[in-house]
Amino acid sequence: MRIYLAGHRGMVGGAILRLLQKRSDVEAILTRTHAELDLTDQTAVAQFMQAEKPDVVILAAARVGGIHANNTYPADFLYDNLMIEANVVHQAFLAGVQRLLFLGSSCIYPRMAPQPMPESALLTGVLESTNEPYAIAKIAGIKLCESYNRQHGVDYRSVMPSNLYGPGDNFHPENSHVLPALMRRFQEAVENGTREVKIWGTGTPRREFLHVDDMSEASMFVLDLPRATYEDNTEPMLSHVNIGTQSDVSIRELAEMIASVTGFEGDIGYDTSKPDGTAKKLMDVSRLTAMGWKARIPLEKGVQETYRWFMNHRDDIRK
Ligand SMILES: NC(=O)c1ccc[n+]([C@@H]2O[C@H](COP(=O)([O-])OP(=O)(O)OC[C@H]3O[C@@H](n4cnc5c(N)ncnc54)[C@H](OP(=O)(O)O)[C@@H]3O)[C@@H](O)[C@H]2O)c1
Repeated sequence: MRIYLAGHRGMVGGAILRLLQKRSDVEAILTRTHAELDLTDQTAVAQFMQAEKPDVVILAAARVGGIHANNTYPADFLYDNLMIEANVVHQAFLAGVQRLLFLGSSCIYPRMAPQPMPESALLTGVLESTNEPYAIAKIAGIKLCESYNRQHGVDYRSVMPSNLYGPGDNFHPENSHVLPALMRRFQEAVENGTREVKIWGTGTPRREFLHVDDMSEASMFVLDLPRATYEDNTEPMLSHVNIGTQSDVSIRELAEMIASVTGFEGDIGYDTSKPDGTAKKLMDVSRLTAMGWKARIPLEKGVQETYRWFMNHRDDIRK
């Protein structure tokens, strides 16, 4: 089997690459850096797919970022992600690819979705405004896969992970997600002798965090499932699968855990003038559990491991 893994240098793509390298049924792993192949370039993607004709495509490339980046670059988040998905899915189809895995995100669900959020909550309400353009692109990705399956009989699947963290994460001071951002801030406070670290909001919102190695395992698990197990026969049909731990922590608990792992002994303050966002966000993973997969890495162990990775990669992490 020849697999094209798009986004192999990203956090998730890197974890999937490590898994693929251990598999005996993978004859070749095709990769291209962003500089070698810009996936927003239709002609370049068409030429690549026609030249390589992979058996399977895993789409782990996307423009990804936290609230600040989503708020500052909404046009880039919408345009880049739509183009990447449309080019990869359509050109994969034209090149005869029968199996594809698309990676989405929990932000596809409405702001007021029932908690935990089931797959059936898709398109039932208004999205969170801060990352709406990104979410719209991810919903389009699911619908692209679903529509190519319906019209052309191919087998393109979609997985929706909750918040991810782990080795390879983005520790940028402004463009990163909450867990790596807190880790960097606490570590810098330790190094600079800062007495207080202030956190946005009240610390009470609850969030779910999935280790990237669990995510990569679950992705391969879903890709390997027999078609009849993956396909859903309910009405309306569910064409994507949630991936998560189905357990959450408050931002306060998370901050205290990271403070302890970094050795920060000062005070944790809460800037309550800043917005909290949704009170609770948790994925309903009963569909994936019924298929036979469960997350295995506890948050505290994952945070410790991520911290070790962060400290060993201070010079080459995304600044
Ligand atoms: N991180 C999370 O918490 C999270 C949560 C839910 C879902 N996901 C999903 O998981 C997938 C991977 O996310 P990640 O966290 O691994 O992101 P990441 O670490 O930022 O990696 C994304 C990869 O995509 C590549 N890329 C971006 N634009 C490209 C383009 N135009 N052409 C070619 N390559 C391009 C990037 O290359 P460059 O760095 O060179 O640009 C990078 O290697 C995404 O679909 C994301 O939506 C992530």
